Amino acid sequence: MERSVKQLFSNISGTYDLLNRVLSFGTDQRWRKKGVSLLPHGKNIRVLDLASGTLDLALQYAKRGEGEIYCVDFALAMLLTGQRKTPPTLDSRIHLVCGDGLWLPFPDGYFDAAMCAWGMRNIPNTPAALKEVARVLKPGGSFLILEFFKPKRIVSKIFAKTYGRHVMPAIGRWISRDKGAYDYLHRSIQKFFTRTEYEKLLQAHGFEIITSRDLTGGVNSLILANTDGH
Ligand SMILES: C[S@@+](CC[C@H](N)C(=O)[O-])C[C@H]1O[C@@H](n2cnc3c(N)ncnc32)[C@H](O)[C@@H]1O
Repeated sequence: MERSVKQLFSNISGTYDLLNRVLSFGTDQRWRKKGVSLLPHGKNIRVLDLASGTLDLALQYAKRGEGEIYCVDFALAMLLTGQRKTPPTLDSRIHLVCGDGLWLPFPDGYFDAAMCAWGMRNIPNTPAALKEVARVLKPGGSFLILEFFKPKRIVSKIFAKTYGRHVMPAIGRWISRDKGAYDYLHRSIQKFFTRTEYEKLLQAHGFEIITSRDLTGGVNSLILANTDGH
C-alpha cells in the first residue's frame, strides 16, 4: 500500500532542499523568485503559503519585500527544517501552521494573496483544496501556483519518461535513502491535470486567470489567478 504523503515528506525532510537543487540543476530557486515577483508586497499584506514544506517559497517572498506570511503544511518535520534556516531578520514575519490544506484554520477573506509551489498535486481532493483557497482569499486576491503539470508537449513528455521516470528516482533514492519517494513524484505528475485542465478547474472555482505559462521548456509551469473582485 502507498505510504501516506505526510509520512513520505516527513521522511525526506532532511534531504529535501539538497535534492531540489540537484534535481533541478539549481533552477527551483529561480522559479520561486519569478513566482513571488508577481505577488503584491507591503506592510499590511497577508500571504498564505500553502504546502509550504521547508519554507523556500516563503523565504523568497519575505526577502523580496514586506508582508506577513502564514506557512501551512501537514508535515511538521518539513516546517521545522524550514524554521532552522530562517534568518532572525525574517523570523517575526513568518508564521508556521502545522495543518491540512483542506481545512485551513483561517476566517473567510483573511489573505490578500496565496501561493503554492508543487503542493497542489499532493493534496488528494483538488476541487476541495481550491474551494478552501478561494474561501480564505479576499475578493480580488491573487493565487500563485508553481506546479509540475501532466506533460502535454512532446519535449516535456520525453523528459518525463526519461529523466522523470528513471534518473530522478535513482538520484532521489541515493541521496534521501528513501526507496520510493521520488518514484511517487513521477507517478503523481502523470496522474495530475494538464495545465489547461487545471486552468479550467480554477475558473470553475471563481478564479480569473491572469497569466499561465510554461517555464524551462514545460518542465515546470506558473499560473497567476485572481478571485472574483465583485
Ligand atoms: C513538494 S513539497 C513543496 C514544498 C514547498 N512548497 C517548496 O517550494 O519546496 C509538497 C509539500 O506539500 C505538503 N502537503 C501535501 N499535502 C498536504 C496537505 N493536504 N496539507 C498540507 N500540506 C500538504 C507536504 O507535506 C510537502 O511539504
